[in-house]
Amino acid sequence: MGCALKQREGHLHHMFNPYAYPFHEGLYRTYGKVARVYGFLGDIQLVVSDPMACNNIFVKDQPIFEVTEPFLRSNMQTTGPSLFATTGSHHRMQRKLLNPAFSTKHMRYITPIFHGVTKQLRENLWSIVSNGPEEINVADWMGKLALELIGQAGLGYSFGIFEGRDDEYCRALKEWIPAQSSLAVFQNLLPYVDNIFHPKVLKFMGRTLPWPKLHHFMDLVETVNSKSRGIYEAKKRLLESGDDATVKQVGDGKDLISLLIRASLVGPEDVQLSEEELVAQMAVLIIAGTDTTSSALSRILHLLSLHPDAQDKLRKELQEAHEDNEELTHDQLVSLPFLEAVCRETLRLYAPVPGVMRTTRSDVVLPLSAPIRDVDGREVHEIFVPKNTNVFAQIYNLNRDPSIWGADAAEWKPERWLAPLPQSVADANIQGVYANIMTFIGGPRACVGFKFSQLEMKAVLSQVIPAFRFAPTGAEIVWRYGIISSPSVKGSVGTFHPKLPMIVSRV
Ligand code: HEM
Repeated sequence: MGCALKQREGHLHHMFNPYAYPFHEGLYRTYGKVARVYGFLGDIQLVVSDPMACNNIFVKDQPIFEVTEPFLRSNMQTTGPSLFATTGSHHRMQRKLLNPAFSTKHMRYITPIFHGVTKQLRENLWSIVSNGPEEINVADWMGKLALELIGQAGLGYSFGIFEGRDDEYCRALKEWIPAQSSLAVFQNLLPYVDNIFHPKVLKFMGRTLPWPKLHHFMDLVETVNSKSRGIYEAKKRLLESGDDATVKQVGDGKDLISLLIRASLVGPEDVQLSEEELVAQMAVLIIAGTDTTSSALSRILHLLSLHPDAQDKLRKELQEAHEDNEELTHDQLVSLPFLEAVCRETLRLYAPVPGVMRTTRSDVVLPLSAPIRDVDGREVHEIFVPKNTNVFAQIYNLNRDPSIWGADAAEWKPERWLAPLPQSVADANIQGVYANIMTFIGGPRACVGFKFSQLEMKAVLSQVIPAFRFAPTGAEIVWRYGIISSPSVKGSVGTFHPKLPMIVSRV
C-alpha cells in the first residue's frame, strides 16, 4: 500500500474538523478516489471514494471492514448491546428481529404519527409569523421536530417539546453527541482498558478521575438509560394488561418499540431481543435518528430557499395532492415524483453523514473500479490493505463522482431524477440500500431507519411547504463537517448549536 500511494497524502487533523469540507474536496480533486492520510501517531488511514472499493467495504467484505473498536466499546459501555455495539452473528440476529418494525407495512401504520407531530410544529410556526414574515432559526425547529418524531413514532414517548415541557430525557439526549465528541481521547483509550476492568470498576475509576467533562457525560448516560428503562417497563406493563390498554399511550402503541415488545410477548424466548437489548436499541434509535433527520430536513429547506422555482414547483405538487384531505397517506407520499426527486437529490449531493470509518480485521485486497497510478507511474487495479488499517469511506465524494453522475454532478438538480439516469449510474453498480447512492450505505450495517427517515421527511415537507414560504436572510450559511453535517452562520462555525436563519412567511 505504502508504495502505490506514496504521493496521495494528507493529514488527519484536516479530516475531522468543522471546516473539513474544502479539505475533502481538495483531497479528491488532487489525488482522486484513494488517498492516504497520516493519523495522530503517524499511522496511515486510507480515504476511499471508489465505488467498487466501497461496495467491498460495506457489502462483500463487511466483516473485514468492521466498525472501529473504540466505537463498539464505547457504545457497549454507555447504552449497552444495541446495533451500535454488536458485530457478526449477534448483530445479524438483532437486525433480523428489528426488520418488521421498519417494514413498509409498519411505515404505513406510523404515517399518522408523523403528521400529528408536524402539525404541532406548524401551529407553532404559524403563530410566530402571524403578523408577517419573521426571521427563524430553522435548524433549531428541525432539531426539536426530529426528536419529537422519533420519540413518538420510535418509542411511543412524547418529550413534550411543542408544549414547552422541560424534559430531563430530552435534555440529556440533546447534549449526548456534543458531550461524547468532547471525549474522543477517552473513547480511543477504552479498547485498552475495558477488557481488564469490570464495568463497575471502570465506572468508579471514571468518577474518581478529575475530569468534569467525563463526569457530565456519565450523568447523561445514567439519565438516558434509566429513562429508557422506565419507558420500557411502563410499556411492557400496559401491553401485558391487554391490547386495549395500548390506546392509552402516545401514538396508540404503534411505535417501533411497542411492536418489538409485543413480538417478544408472543414469540419463543430464544429468538427474541432480550430486555437489555431492547432498552439499548431505544437510546440508539434516538441518537441515530435525530440529528441525521434534522440535518437532512434543514438542508432541504435551505436549498429550497435558494431555489424558489423548485420550492414553488414542490408546493404546487403538494397542494394538488392534498385536494381535500389534510394528511397525505403513506402511499401518496411515496408516489409524488417531485417530492421524491427533491429528497433524492439533496441526499445525493449533501449526505448528512459525509463518511464512515472502518478498521480492517485482517489483511485484505481492495479492488478499484478504475486504475490509479503509483509513484512509478504503474497502473494499480487493486490495493493491499494490511490488518488494523483505518479506512474512511468518503460517501460525500462518492455520491458526487462526475464519472458516475456526469459533468453536472456537483449541481443540485432534482430534475435529474425525473428523466432516465445516465448509463454510467447503472454501470457503477453502487450497492447502497437507497437510490444508487451511499448516503445510507449498504450491506449488513446499512441504515436500518432509511425508509423511516424518507417517510418522516416527506410527511414534514407535505405539511410545511404548502403552509410557509422559506427565503434566505442574506447571512452566509456554512455547513460544518462532522459525523453529522450541520449548518452554522459564518463567524459562528466553532459553536456547536446549529444555526440556519431564514425568513419564513405564510403562503
Ligand atoms: C437522513 C437521515 C439518515 C441518514 C443520512 C442516516 C445514515 C446512516 C448511516 C450512514 C449509517 C451507517 C453508520 C455506520 O455504520 O458507520 C446509519 C446507521 C444506522 N441508522 Fe441511520 N441515517 C438516517 C436516519 C436514521 C433514522 C431516522 C433512524 C432510526 C429510526 C436511523 C437508525 C440507524 C441505526 C440504528 C443505524 C445502525 C445500523 C447498524 O449498525 O446495523 N437512521 N445511518
